[in-house]
Amino acid sequence: MKSLKSFINFALFCNVLVIISNVSVAQDTKKNSTTAKGRQNFPPVEEIGSYGVEKLLNLNPTDMLEYINEFCSRGAQINNAAAFDYKDISLTLYDGKENTPFLLANMENLMQHPSFNKTHNVVVFVPGWLSNLQESPNAAADTIYKAYECRGSTNFLVMDTTKQINTLGASTAENTLNMGQYLANALKDLTESVKISQIHLIGHSLGAHIVGAAGRFFKSITGKNLPRITGLDPGRVCFVERNGNFDLERGDADFVDIIHTNPNGLGKEETIGNANFYPNGLNLMPGCNDAICSHKMAWRYYAESVYPSNKFGFSGKKCLTENLKNLTNTDCGGQSEPMGYATPATATGNYFLQTNSKEPYGKNSKNDKKCGVVEANIIDIFSSIATVERTDSPDNLPVWS
Ligand SMILES: *[C@@H]1O[C@H](CO)[C@@H](O)[C@H](O)[C@H]1NC(C)=O
Ligand SMILES: *[C@@H]1O[C@H](CO)[C@@H](O)[C@H](O)[C@H]1NC(C)=O
Ligand SMILES: *[C@@H]1O[C@H](CO)[C@@H](O)[C@H](O)[C@H]1NC(C)=O
Repeated sequence: MKSLKSFINFALFCNVLVIISNVSVAQDTKKNSTTAKGRQNFPPVEEIGSYGVEKLLNLNPTDMLEYINEFCSRGAQINNAAAFDYKDISLTLYDGKENTPFLLANMENLMQHPSFNKTHNVVVFVPGWLSNLQESPNAAADTIYKAYECRGSTNFLVMDTTKQINTLGASTAENTLNMGQYLANALKDLTESVKISQIHLIGHSLGAHIVGAAGRFFKSITGKNLPRITGLDPGRVCFVERNGNFDLERGDADFVDIIHTNPNGLGKEETIGNANFYPNGLNLMPGCNDAICSHKMAWRYYAESVYPSNKFGFSGKKCLTENLKNLTNTDCGGQSEPMGYATPATATGNYFLQTNSKEPYGKNSKNDKKCGVVEANIIDIFSSIATVERTDSPDNLPVWS
């Protein structure tokens, strides 16, 4: 108990240090612990936990994974949620003019904003913390937003947790649950204006587990499931095995679809969704030489699929094998389903497809992204998903379009 308490204090200290001085590495004040033989000597778990994104990304990818795994295997069970304050978390409304943040506790103001249209679908995107550097701070959010803006008729909201989850130590399961719970309460408030059937949660990496938790909490406070959660390469960091109810899984919404782009690297390999898409099998994505690049492809592919002309840009073929090592065209010759935006809620099982190494990534995507396509009434489409009969014609698929 004493060591737990001192860890919490230490983590708090480290995070204050990070915030104040913007230095992400705490001083190594303790002796390095002994590690498994043949492996490198790792710093104490408290120190690894204090590493910020920058520090981790400066390690070479193999070392980065080693450090993360080391931390997770030794430190992930530690609850340091108390070290963080969630009162500052916002949902930011993107409208192409300015991005306006609204505190989670203040959804009323969001709903009154002139750019918020309650007849439109609500998409909430939660980015992953590890992919927010190296590019502009919200590359994933910006890219996905641009695609939804092109499609039109969407209230696009981003929950940026990077200020709260700024170290490896903060990316623990407990913090994920807390974030999810706050988001769930905000969503409940939103349902005063919008129908549950209009809400779609999307999370990348750690963000996928946050939206998973939001789905579960939403169910526990309203008794109702959200219709859809999309996990973009859900993070493996500290979520290697289900310990308790911490990671995104089918059941967290009526329909959970997953795009795996760095399985068993930064992303989970497990078939946690109703529909699991494995572009290029378990390999790095074409055009990528490392885990980080591959991990980000999940949101790049998803964003591309949101453009109306690319709805069927990524066509997954259902795998007849359960063995994930055999994700090939030979073993995956079943029913085709579109990956990404247009994945129908009836899709189930594992799907394989190949992608291009450059944009357009989808083998069937178009280079010209035509915008301004007028939507059918999105609410009708959402609520009809469960009842639409499946047909083999892509034009008749019950899609999110
Ligand atoms: C602990 O390990 C780190 C990284 O391997 C090393 O830089 C540091 O000098 C070590 N500290 C001690 C006290 O051995
Ligand atoms: C909301 O969207 C609907 C459908 O796109 C449109 O008819 C309506 O004018 C919009 N309302 C506002 C206040 O912009
Ligand atoms: C995997 O694919 C190889 C080559 O096609 C085949 O020999 C093997 O039986 C397959 N294994 C499973 C479990 O499907």
